[in-house]
Amino acid sequence: MPLYLDPEELRYQAPGPHLDLIGAMAFRAAGAAQRLGIFKTLLEGPLPVAELAARTDTHAGTLPVLLDALVSLGYLNRAPGQVYANSPMTAGSLDPRTPWSYAPALSFWQDLLGELWDGLEESVRTGRPRTDFHAWLESRPRALRDFQTMLNGIAAGLAPVIAETAPDPGERLLDVGGGHARHSVAFCQVHSRLTATIVDLPAGLEDGRARIEEAGLAGRVTTIPGDVTVADLGTGYDTALLFNLCHGFDEPGNRALLARVAAALRPGGTVLVLETFADLPEETSPVAEAFLRAFSLNLSVTRGGRLHGFADVAGWLTDAGFGRIERRRLGGPDELLIARLPQGEER
Ligand SMILES: C[S@@+](CC[C@H](N)C(=O)[O-])C[C@H]1O[C@@H](n2cnc3c(N)ncnc32)[C@H](O)[C@@H]1O
Repeated sequence: MPLYLDPEELRYQAPGPHLDLIGAMAFRAAGAAQRLGIFKTLLEGPLPVAELAARTDTHAGTLPVLLDALVSLGYLNRAPGQVYANSPMTAGSLDPRTPWSYAPALSFWQDLLGELWDGLEESVRTGRPRTDFHAWLESRPRALRDFQTMLNGIAAGLAPVIAETAPDPGERLLDVGGGHARHSVAFCQVHSRLTATIVDLPAGLEDGRARIEEAGLAGRVTTIPGDVTVADLGTGYDTALLFNLCHGFDEPGNRALLARVAAALRPGGTVLVLETFADLPEETSPVAEAFLRAFSLNLSVTRGGRLHGFADVAGWLTDAGFGRIERRRLGGPDELLIARLPQGEER
């Protein structure tokens, strides 16, 4: 929302809440424009309002109210004759054809804030989410598709870097909650003798299966649909990935999960935990920190999770039998925690 914050003007308003109100309305208005196909239609070029209304099946009298709000909020530009165009910000960040597009995130967070954040007060009172996030997701094909596209987009940049720089994964990899398969595919591409098993909820695996086929790795990457808290994970793996999974569970959930992962690894096996830890890197900008603290709140209201501190996760791993714990920065807030089980005779 590219608004100039005039300190004099702000002195006479409740600056924080007022700006947040504008931000909330802006986010909702942008979400509506996306759902109505306005940004997508304008990707082809500027249009007069009547034409835009006809093409998006909207009310020609009401549409300009939304469009004018979006002009003030920085999403659209207006030329004389009620001709509207995407602003450079919109064209650059909400084009769904680009791999870095924010469009899936805008759509997904609309659903999340609109539906699940309704239970915020209740979850803070009771310590439990009102709704089961994954059941909710499975019942909403659009939100599920947006969620997977978003996760896949985030993982696309990181996966090759992690696969190249992580400790040698040995020959058998277990990817816990690795649904979109980016990480398993990247590891197998770097390590030619490696086979991988991905365990994720059935809906989480749909996208991943296509990616495995596309990469020509169907013979080396297998998928197990199931709940990682109860599914048979198998045994004897050299390495397990727990990437962006711990933040979806509370402490007892993580302790139970890490014990299951320890049991699935061979003696001397390694676990790699990819997370944003609550003790954020010092150089984290105020904007990034604000997002991540709010994201932690989102994990709490939707899943009963949160961003956990590095020492907490390291402590649970130690209690699950792991040692030689290492912390590696990956740039930005993403970090890798590496821990190893003792060799057979040390256990
Ligand atoms: C935030 S995503 C992370 C995906 C991937 N590991 C990554 O880092 O990009 C969490 C993944 O864990 C899966 N997941 C969460 N809880 C699960 C459970 N109880 N059983 C199986 N999969 C689960 C979700 O379906 C999703 O694919």
